[in-house]
Amino acid sequence: MLSLWTQLPISENSLEEHPRARILRAAGCNLGLVEQASEVGIGKLGTPAVPEGLRAEFFTGIMPLGGIMPLGDLIDSFLDIVKIADVDGVVAFTAANVYPDHPHAMEQGPTVAHRRARGRGLATLVKQVLADEVAQRYPDIERVTTYNALDNAPMLAINNKLGLVLKFYETNWLKRI
Ligand SMILES: CC(C)(COP(=O)(O)OP(=O)(O)OC[C@H]1O[C@@H](n2cnc3c(N)ncnc32)[C@H](O)[C@@H]1OP(=O)(O)O)[C@@H](O)C(=O)NCCC(=O)NCCS
Repeated sequence: MLSLWTQLPISENSLEEHPRARILRAAGCNLGLVEQASEVGIGKLGTPAVPEGLRAEFFTGIMPLGGIMPLGDLIDSFLDIVKIADVDGVVAFTAANVYPDHPHAMEQGPTVAHRRARGRGLATLVKQVLADEVAQRYPDIERVTTYNALDNAPMLAINNKLGLVLKFYETNWLKRI
């Protein structure tokens, strides 16, 4: 299977009508995963209070090879993780990458809420808590950037609520060879 990634602009019908999309379709490629890239000023996420009964735990370090995200080009980035836990264990976590060669942007990593704790605003909270912590630890950071699959309605709702603004589509094209 041939897999190609390309960025397309956010505009009406760009996934169908953009010249690059047309060329890829004509070459026999089918559109697979579509992610939207978006960003927001780091100060716009607010300074959240962690509710009573929950605690935030932070981890900071260099992304270890074969760590939670096995992506080779991330291993030189600083990784910040926050976990929100209650007495029964972790209920939500998220991660951020801060790249030394991109000192003004924090890349939001994966966010997960435990099934037993979903729908209580914890994924929203955990993202706000980490952005607040990163803003204090890395004063040069100006904005939060992220990628989201277009079919992940809960995460799109969260990011919309947090004020993220769409920048472009990251599209994956597949061709059986
Ligand atoms: C996505 C995920 C992190 C959300 O966790 P959560 O703690 O339930 O999220 P929150 O309670 O903070 O917010 C969920 C929001 O999604 C909305 N939502 C939930 N289901 C939805 C749906 N089907 N369509 C649209 N919005 C939806 C909720 O209404 C809520 O928004 P609101 O606060 O404006 O009402 C959780 O479902 C999860 O861990 N999923 C698996 C991992 C994943 O997909 N992570 C995202 C990619 S990194």
